[in-house]
Amino acid sequence: MDTNTKSIGELALEVPHAIAVLEKWRIDYCCHGQRSVAEACKDAGVTAEELLREIGTTPVTDDGRDWSSESLIALQDYIIDTHHVFTRQAMETITVLADKVAMRHGPSHPEVNRVHEIVTALVNDLGPHMMKEEMVLFPYVAALERGEQPANCFGTVRNPVRMMMIEHDAVGGLLRDLREATNDYRLPDDACLSFRALYERLAELEQDLHKHIHLENNVHFPRAVELEDHV
Ligand SMILES: [Fe+2]
Ligand SMILES: [Fe+2]
Repeated sequence: MDTNTKSIGELALEVPHAIAVLEKWRIDYCCHGQRSVAEACKDAGVTAEELLREIGTTPVTDDGRDWSSESLIALQDYIIDTHHVFTRQAMETITVLADKVAMRHGPSHPEVNRVHEIVTALVNDLGPHMMKEEMVLFPYVAALERGEQPANCFGTVRNPVRMMMIEHDAVGGLLRDLREATNDYRLPDDACLSFRALYERLAELEQDLHKHIHLENNVHFPRAVELEDHV
């Protein structure tokens, strides 16, 4: 593998168990998936050789499906049934926990007030974002794949794709803000159960969003553009 030409998004796509190792090194393979493996490793402070060695020995943790060869309809169903369902449930729990923890611990741990603010922004972004995918982009792509000529109000699929990618970048930025505000989800000694649960649920949501955005940015969107170009 030429680590100067292979992108980190391609690596995550082609080697499903790469994702666990990329998460460990905090290498962004979704929003910044276009960087070369060499460049991403340099930024993360790991050599490409070391990263690839680790990937080779890590057990498979993903669902193991090769999304580059399945239909886009199957991929969309998978994204909705797993990632969108998970995100909606996680957002509900996290909203309750963030309210509670900010109210109880805000005075002694001001960082939870900042967490509350970022969580509110994240929920306000993600809800409408997923709705647009489910109501506009995915049905259009499904119709194209079925060989229909669907009407649309956006010209080319490149426009909603560009919009979705801008929104993904914003979500990526909020996830980074959360890491900064929580000092990488480090709990204070006096953290109660709700505090602990809030940080755990946020860290889980972050991991899931990385996989979710990776599937959209690096697999779904390029294939949707290609599909539209060839109908
Ligand atoms: Fe999505
Ligand atoms: Fe998305």
